[in-house]
Amino acid sequence: MTKLQKSHLKQMHDSKGVVLSQKSIDARCSKVADRLIELYRDVPFTLVGVLNGAVVFVTDLLRHLSNIERYDQPIELEFVRARSYVGTNSGEIGLNLKILDRKAIEGRHVVLVDDILDTGKTLHHLVREIREMKPASIRPVVLLRKNGMQSDEYPVEIDPDDIGFQIEPKFVVGRGLDYNGLYRNLTWIAEYVGPRGEPG
Ligand code: IMP
Ligand code: MG
Repeated sequence: MTKLQKSHLKQMHDSKGVVLSQKSIDARCSKVADRLIELYRDVPFTLVGVLNGAVVFVTDLLRHLSNIERYDQPIELEFVRARSYVGTNSGEIGLNLKILDRKAIEGRHVVLVDDILDTGKTLHHLVREIREMKPASIRPVVLLRKNGMQSDEYPVEIDPDDIGFQIEPKFVVGRGLDYNGLYRNLTWIAEYVGPRGEPG
């Protein structure tokens, strides 16, 4: 690691560009989980996480859903993989649904969990592909939504209550979100700023 890379890593970890604090994210995750408890009180569901970014949000939700006193339906957990970003540029999307067990989808209620709704390309395509597997229903849930970034080309039907936070259209990292694979482990959401202070 070069000196510049090292100081950049430190700068991101000491981040002054905090967009959402750990505390506020924790509180909101518990609210989003509460709503799932309400909605799926009488019907079990399959939670499908979008790797890699959604892994932290999925675990946060599961932590709240795993209290048997509060939620006693069994949850199936599945994953798909999506890739679109190189650096801070949204590019061609690559989806991998091979790892998804179709038996966990067909006839079942599906909650599709991603880290962020940006242009909508990822969730639009995923919803379409999962619908072909004939789920009983499909509900996208995201931790973040970037204001004003959704494209008419990729409509995604999402209930405002299934969105953790609406944020300004900045490139953010932390809580599962990355810049070229880095900073997923930050426990808060920070604006990504390059090593020379340039915005993401
Ligand atoms: P979309 O397909 O344009 O909606 O973008 C969604 C995907 O792009 C998400 O699953 C994220 O992995 C990634 N993404 C979008 N915006 C950001 C960001 O600000 N930081 C990190 N990843 C992002
Ligand atoms: Mg992603």
